[in-house]
Amino acid sequence: MKKIVIDPITRIEGHLRAEVEVDENGVVQDAFVSGQLFRGIEIILKDRDPRDAGLLAGRICGVCTNSHFRAAISSVEDAYSLELPKNAEIIRDLMAMALFIQDHVVHFYHLHSLDFVDITSALSADTKLTSKEAHKYHKKPFRNSHSHYEATIEKLSKYVKAGKLGPFSNGYWGHKDYKLTPEQNLIMISHYLEALKFQTNISKAVAIFGGKTPHPQSIVVGGVSSVADMLNPQRLNDYLFIIKEAKDFIERAYLPDAKLLALAYRDEIKAGVGRANGNFLSVGGYEFEGERKLFCSGVVYNHDFENIQEFDESKITEEIDRAWYENEAKDNEVCYTDLNEDGSLKTAKNDDKYSWIKAPRYDGKTMETGPLARVLISYKKDNTLIKSFVDEFLKDTDLELMDLSTSVGRNAARAIETSYICEYIFKLVSRLIQNIKYYDTDTWVKFDFDSLDKEAKGRAFFEVPRGTLSHFVNIKDARIENFSVIAPTTWNATPKNFDGLRGAYEEALVGLKIQDTAKPLEVLRVLHSFDPCLACAVHIIDTKGKELSHYKIRII
Ligand code: NI
Repeated sequence: MKKIVIDPITRIEGHLRAEVEVDENGVVQDAFVSGQLFRGIEIILKDRDPRDAGLLAGRICGVCTNSHFRAAISSVEDAYSLELPKNAEIIRDLMAMALFIQDHVVHFYHLHSLDFVDITSALSADTKLTSKEAHKYHKKPFRNSHSHYEATIEKLSKYVKAGKLGPFSNGYWGHKDYKLTPEQNLIMISHYLEALKFQTNISKAVAIFGGKTPHPQSIVVGGVSSVADMLNPQRLNDYLFIIKEAKDFIERAYLPDAKLLALAYRDEIKAGVGRANGNFLSVGGYEFEGERKLFCSGVVYNHDFENIQEFDESKITEEIDRAWYENEAKDNEVCYTDLNEDGSLKTAKNDDKYSWIKAPRYDGKTMETGPLARVLISYKKDNTLIKSFVDEFLKDTDLELMDLSTSVGRNAARAIETSYICEYIFKLVSRLIQNIKYYDTDTWVKFDFDSLDKEAKGRAFFEVPRGTLSHFVNIKDARIENFSVIAPTTWNATPKNFDGLRGAYEEALVGLKIQDTAKPLEVLRVLHSFDPCLACAVHIIDTKGKELSHYKIRII
């Protein structure tokens, strides 16, 4: 048995380590996925004014800022049973949806595509053939001119000639498992570069109602403060214009590229590469029409979509058997155990603690959460908005629904979700305009903080780009007594417990065949397909955690 250690796994929001044990045939037998950094936001939140929870919790992550900002404030509103005006919910949703689009596009191109795209191969592409190739995936491909592809090659060549590959410098270029043709590589890399501009624009959509992004400022306990923006037709128009532009890129570049990958990596999909244990969780949400929601909620075990269970929050537990916290006192007392007595890093994880990520369980089971879970559950619950997008994708790629439960399929689910989110946004905006037209301009519910209950408990559940996010707050003497967060990556990257159950990341790695153990590209592909956000996943830093700096130096 050979052990491969990959650290760091992620391109940003990093600090994820994977240790995989492979047999003589290069097949993964067991995996240990570890969150390598901890955060201290929950401790910082203690004894604070609950009205400040959002601004502090938003700092949990530099990417998912808006998700934590909103969830923290919603948990406080839940504690005080505050009913929000419709407009406030819509504005919060408009910010959330723009973030979904930004996150998914950035993930696909900038955080994950280079696991599939070999840029060195793109340099030898025939630009006329490239243009022809792009037509296989869309009638009017994005920026599909011969001259544009020539210019892209020239730009890449300059990087290569200068010996400065920048963001492209750490790839396993030339690896046998890169399957795209030079022309397909060129299409993808052209869109990689275009997506850099895209992400700047879509961020502005979040900022229109958020004041700024990352770390928007406009959500307050009881509503939103972006009143003038909501009432200004120019601002609404600016937002819509950005979404229309985004929709164009998603339809003509992102979705076709997801199809291109699904077709090129068909063998991997059919072999189930990257499939986890088939347990899926979605809390649903975002008002659509009447009682219907954008995402359906539900719980699925072992890919049994004919028996989707109702989500029941009381079934959620969080364990610390194998995470670096004390077992006895469940008050987040740090218990770091990853060094041997001589100070070297432990490599055998068999029955020891090995992650800063705690172990959330639903009814005792590990769950996968994220776009794949949402798409599958919503599809099977007959969500009409989503269904047509999924059916079209499966038809164009000659795949079945079950095929989506793979690494490449996970990316497809994300692209499909991004497409229907664009459609949903137009519905949201028209609902907002309708409210304003009928003189409903409320954005905030008045409340007298001093007369609210001094002791209260609240929680908020949201589907956010990477999956299910929950915030829990306990308020005592009008101060935060305790604050707790379970982020999407906490679910997916969970360590084992003493029951030995693997989480989604670990389960997806087991059985994976690695061609070249010195270049474990396959491992990166599987883990990146979940869109890890480790800053979100890890938990508490304690002032006693003096080992942190020592540890980081050793890892580097
Ligand atoms: Ni995050």
